[in-house]
This record gives sequence, structure tokens and C-alpha cells, in this order.
Amino acid sequence: MASCTRFLIFAVAASLLASFARADLQYDFYNTSCPGVETLVRDALTEVFAADSTVRAGLLRLHFHDCFVRGCDASIMINSNNGTAEKNADPNLTLRGYEVIEAIKVKVEAACPLVVSCADIMAMAARDAVKFSEGPDYLVETGRRDGNVSMMADALSDLPPADGNVTVLTKVFAVKNLTMKDLVVLSGAHTLGVAHCPSFSYRVHNYTGVGDEDPSMEPEYAEGLNAKCAPDNFASVVPLDTVTTNEFDLGYFQSVYAGKGLLGSDDALRHDSLTGAYVSLMNNASSLDTFFADFAVSMINMGRVGVLTGTDGEIRATCGIYVD
Ligand code: HEM
Repeated sequence: MASCTRFLIFAVAASLLASFARADLQYDFYNTSCPGVETLVRDALTEVFAADSTVRAGLLRLHFHDCFVRGCDASIMINSNNGTAEKNADPNLTLRGYEVIEAIKVKVEAACPLVVSCADIMAMAARDAVKFSEGPDYLVETGRRDGNVSMMADALSDLPPADGNVTVLTKVFAVKNLTMKDLVVLSGAHTLGVAHCPSFSYRVHNYTGVGDEDPSMEPEYAEGLNAKCAPDNFASVVPLDTVTTNEFDLGYFQSVYAGKGLLGSDDALRHDSLTGAYVSLMNNASSLDTFFADFAVSMINMGRVGVLTGTDGEIRATCGIYVD
């Protein structure tokens, strides 16, 4: 009995120590160390978005690609002289907004040197990108620290494939402790932004080898994409949301529901019973509040993936350091 009690005391003490060492994320982490940093970031972004509102989509995607590879640790920002960092991986070649994060970091460093991580700035920027697109405004957790390892191979293995079906995508999300609900809700981020032709043109050129288009696509939509994206067209872009590209709303789910999901991974959502039920719920205008609330929760979940906290990682002055 006594040894059992000792074991319990040890177990409780060990778990307390572990939780202290892990120093979880929290709201207003910089409350005393850099008060006002979230306002500083938001003000800086107000100017950026006034000049180019489309970069909002870029910042949202940047945070996602950061979190899925080695956790939300700003490793996506790191540069490599020999082209082997995460940002050099094929799915990352169309990421945008690096210079925005770097410019904000300069302002934050001027106010509070070596206090605020690049990873937290990226999380705040993603949140603000959504808010400024008329989407939900949510409290962002902070306290992440930056990693200094960035490998192309990790990006290639950990990011979800654009032609993945729900089984594949669910597995990729599960590895990051994210659920099928997170998958369908976060796919709603495609209410903003664009994709380049090579990300989807296989769906409209010779899909099954007989010169056809993906039969799951709404035929006129497929024809339009076929005309716009010749197989050698690498540069043209097409909106992911056929209704409202630059506004955070239900237009993406309405598109998917109507067979106008641009990526294979978008269209796949309506063919699974669980994700399909969510798509059809979101096809109803009265679901906007539900989508907003769900999106905020799933973004917070994603923002916790693999974070470095406490004494792990580092706070660096420049986000895009060269590691090799
Ligand atoms: C479910 C798995 C996902 C897949 C397979 C996927 C794939 C893609 C692809 C292929 C593009 C277009 C790239 C290009 O051709 O330029 C894209 C764009 C985008 N993705 Fe995703 N994505 C997924 C989930 C997410 C999530 C979770 C977010 C954010 C929370 C997100 C945010 C975005 C945004 C905002 C864009 C537009 C970017 C821009 O306009 O620059 N995506 N995604």
C-alpha cells in the first residue's frame, strides 16, 4: 500500500514536472514580455493587405505548411544554400508571404528583441488573414519557439497530396493528431486563394487514359478548366472557391457540393459519408456561424501541432536564416 502511494506521488510529481517543462501554449503569452505585439502585427498587416489583399490566402497556407512539417516552428521560413530545405520541396514552391512575415519580424524585433518567435508571428498572421477576409476572429495561442531544422524530405512526406482521397487525407491528418472533422473544416480554408494549373490539370486532361475529364466534375466547369489549363501551362491560376475567391465564407463548400471542387482533395470530401455530410450542411447559407466556430477550433488544433515550447527551440532575430 505504502509503495503504491509512493508510486502515485512519484507519478503525479513526474507529470507535473513534465507539464512545467512542456510549458503549454497559452493566450497572451507575451502579455508582460512584449505587450501589444498582437496589435503591432495586426497594424502591420492592415497596411500589407491594403496594398494586396490576395496575400491573405498565402499567409493562411504558409501557417498550415509550417505546422504539418516538424510542427508549427517556422521551419518553413528557413533557407538552404543547396536547395534542400522545406521551402524547396515541390508542394511548397507556390507558397507566398515569406517576405510579409520577415517584414513583420523586423518591426517586432525593434519593439521586443529576441522575445517573439517567428512561429507565433505566423500563427497571428494566419488568424489576421482570416479575420481581414471577413472570416472569424479568434484568440490565438502563443508561446511557440522556432526550430532550426528544415528538410525537403520531411515536407514531401508530411504534406497531404492534392489528389488524395478521404482515406489518405484522414491518415495524413491523424499523424498530426487532427481529426476527420479538422480535415473537412480546415479544407474550408480553400475559400481563399488560387491553385496553379499543374495542381489539378490531370483531372481535365486524359483522366482515365481515354482523353476524358474526371467524371466527378461538373461538366461545364471541367471544360472551362480544360480550356484554361493546357498540359504545358504551369503559370495560370484558378480560384479554389468558384463563388467568392477573396472572401472567407461558404463559397468553397458550395463549389465542392456542386461538383466544382478544384483539387482532387476538395472533390473527395463530398464522396465520403462523414465529410460529405459536412459539405452538404455547409452548402446551406444558415451554416456560416457553424463554419466560423468550427474553423476557429480547428485552427487552434492545427496551431498546436508539434510545437516547441519552454526551453526547446530558439527565438531568432531573422526567420529566414540559412542553415547550410
Ligand atoms: C486537406 C488537404 C490539403 C491539400 C491537399 C491542399 C492542397 C493545396 C494545393 C495543391 C493548393 C494550390 C497550390 C498551387 O497550385 O498554387 C492549395 C492552396 C491553398 N491552400 Fe491548401 N491544401 C489542403 C489543406 C489546406 C489547409 C488545412 C489550409 C489552411 C488551413 C489550406 C490553405 C490553402 C490556401 C489559403 C490556398 C491558396 C493559396 C494562395 O492563393 O496562395 N489548405 N492547397
